Amino acid sequence: MIRLDIPATSANLGAGFDALGLALDLYNTVELEESDVIDIASLDGVKVPTDEKNLIYISVNDLYKVCGKKLPGLYLRQTNNIPMTRGLGSSSACIVAGLVGANKLLGEPLTVDDLVDLAAQIEGHPDNTAPALLGGIVTAVFDGRKVHWVKQEVYTKLKFVCIIPDFELPTEKARACLPETVSHKDAVYNLSRAALFSASLLTGKFENLRTGVHDRLHQPYRTPLIPNCREVFDIAYTHGAYAAYISGAGPTVMAIVDDSNEYFAGKVRFSLENAGLGGWRVEEHRIDNTGTKLI
Ligand code: HSE
Repeated sequence: MIRLDIPATSANLGAGFDALGLALDLYNTVELEESDVIDIASLDGVKVPTDEKNLIYISVNDLYKVCGKKLPGLYLRQTNNIPMTRGLGSSSACIVAGLVGANKLLGEPLTVDDLVDLAAQIEGHPDNTAPALLGGIVTAVFDGRKVHWVKQEVYTKLKFVCIIPDFELPTEKARACLPETVSHKDAVYNLSRAALFSASLLTGKFENLRTGVHDRLHQPYRTPLIPNCREVFDIAYTHGAYAAYISGAGPTVMAIVDDSNEYFAGKVRFSLENAGLGGWRVEEHRIDNTGTKLI
């Protein structure tokens, strides 16, 4: 039996649309082994497909196909701590679980690079899948077949505080609202800020993070799909966040906060309740530097 922990991820990090992502210390757990039948169940009551439409099953099957093997059936048990359709990488965690698990079942025929490439091909972009596999902060360029990536471990006194609404935002909807083309000016606006963000995070120049998360490629278009998003940003900044951005495709708002800001989560909860936004919950996390682990 293979047992895996797969981290949640936060993609884009503001300006690094489809290019930057980091792993968080919040994990789905998956147990799997070959079987004669498809036997899939969720161990925590979260509803998941229990047939060939299950994303972990699909990813296991894809890896078997790549290796020229036939998957007879699959025993799969999943525990889904990562909230679904909230911009915290729940789909990527399933894809990565399937690929890493299947690779292990077959005696590890594929390399880590192969897995990063396959995961991006299944998901369409690498900024959640690569950090889910590798951990840390990952800078990734997907050329359609291969991912060119760098993983950097991050040891900072920063908390990543997830402010998670009680509604879902499907990634397809959050991508469908984006424009086909953007101006040269907006492209420069973003690339300069994405570069500033990673350099500042990695060198401890946290006062730059607020500028680094500003973006003109996706957040302005997605904000209207997330009711009260602006108010949640305001609350995060009022209580001293270095930066706040829409995590992945949303709707979670991520606040980057200094460890010394001890009561940030409590203050944000209190302000949300006062603003009538009690449906948003607040979870403190840190960066996971390990990625997917066999346990
Ligand atoms: N970069 C992706 C997006 C992440 O923002 O659409 C979600 O999968």
